[in-house]
Amino acid sequence: MKKIRAAVFASGAGSNFQAIMEKNDLLCEVALLVCDKPGASVLEKAEKFGVPTFVFDSEEYASKSDYEKDLVRKLQQSDISWIFLAGYMRIVGPTLLRAYKNRIINIHPSMLPEFPGKDAIGQAFKAGVSDTGVTVHFIDEGIDTGPIIAQEPVEVFKDDTVETLKERIQLVEHRLYPIVINRLMK
Ligand code: GRF
Repeated sequence: MKKIRAAVFASGAGSNFQAIMEKNDLLCEVALLVCDKPGASVLEKAEKFGVPTFVFDSEEYASKSDYEKDLVRKLQQSDISWIFLAGYMRIVGPTLLRAYKNRIINIHPSMLPEFPGKDAIGQAFKAGVSDTGVTVHFIDEGIDTGPIIAQEPVEVFKDDTVETLKERIQLVEHRLYPIVINRLMK
């Protein structure tokens, strides 16, 4: 049977993209990597895995809806039916949301609704909480507000630094995201 075709959207290092690609029994094919940062290291990873890329620079477009129209065109040409956001540092607008309703998920490094937005790990660290975690959720028009699909807590240790906490959170992300993706593909 033909596998579902998915796109990963990323802006940075791409460690979650790599974790998805390294899952042996992934029930979909990552057929496209979309990146809004020319030069981001995730692009080298895509090349290594032989995943085609679509790179865009938002500054070359007049508006979000303009670049999202281009994105939707590219996604449809590539027969993409699901989108996995993995460190994509842009708010998804109505053009993309409407085209992929209930088919866009995101991974966020906190137990939402706690610590939404940027630098969730730094926010949790500063707040001095004893637990934080990871959330996978559907995307809606808000920032990190869509329906939650899965969560896993991560303890904050007394001797943690932001860096050691981030390392442990990312280990959970890399295990959890591919599992949740497989659950959704069934
Ligand atoms: C991850 O921590 C993810 O939760 C957040 O952005 C980070 C991306 O890291 N949304 P990477 O690019 O996958 O290494």
